[in-house]
Amino acid sequence: MNAHPALDLDRLSALLGAKPIGHTVEYHRAIDSTMPRAHQLAQDPDVPAGYVVVAEQQTEGRGRSGRSWTAPANQALLASFILKPPLIPGSPGQIPMAAGVAVVDALLEVAPEIEGQVSLKWPNDVLLGQPTITGKVAGILVESAYGAGGIEYAIVGIGINVNQPAEDLPTVESRMTTPVSLRSFVGRSFDRTRLLVLLCRRLARELDPSNAPDALYERWRARISTLNCRVTVIPHAQRNAAPVKGFAVNVSPSGNLIVRDEEGQLHTFAAADVSLRPAG
Ligand code: BTN
Repeated sequence: MNAHPALDLDRLSALLGAKPIGHTVEYHRAIDSTMPRAHQLAQDPDVPAGYVVVAEQQTEGRGRSGRSWTAPANQALLASFILKPPLIPGSPGQIPMAAGVAVVDALLEVAPEIEGQVSLKWPNDVLLGQPTITGKVAGILVESAYGAGGIEYAIVGIGINVNQPAEDLPTVESRMTTPVSLRSFVGRSFDRTRLLVLLCRRLARELDPSNAPDALYERWRARISTLNCRVTVIPHAQRNAAPVKGFAVNVSPSGNLIVRDEEGQLHTFAAADVSLRPAG
């Protein structure tokens, strides 16, 4: 039997065919990255909201802040979700919130034993483990296209380390969060097709236009483990600003992080401008 079965496309279409997200899944055995392909599709007015591009392997997988995202074939979940109205919330900051909540809740549904051990590191790294030993199990990359009338579409790229054995996880710089897979953390393998189905359903639920906007913010906030912790905020190089050490006191409804520094002054940071490290 194949130790790393491919995604089951028949099951995906049977379970998602009539759903707002995942009704159409474009499948690639290998692709450079699902992100540019999703952008290309999203620019076609005939491609509807909820279209998903999925790949078993990426040769140039993209992470946040210009980093790469790597995973061996058939072991991770690598997908880009095309969002267009009506699946675009009124506030653009809610797109990454919806994705973060959906990933955490889908992971909990396939692996109930991680209850209390899965959380978000602001803004949207999905961590496993509490309180001191943590690893990053999933990452979220949101890229939006704006026109004269506001957001035209957004691509939500999600990479989840599912079945990689520990030795197949990438090595990262020492200051970055160590990667972990669901399998290396829990000790068993997972059905990636089921995880993708649950992720599509959860994302659609979080983006349902009839939801109260504050409910999503509260749900996202409740999953962030970096709140009430000492942190160092590192501005991206092009910002030409000094790191800020302090205490993460809150997140705002638009998704910004609020940090109180050692002099008691409050600073507000947007996710696009900074990286966060536990304070050393
Ligand atoms: C991060 O840096 O934390 C975000 C990682 C996002 C990775 C996913 S994998 C599917 C999609 N395609 C990509 O090239 N990147 C995203």
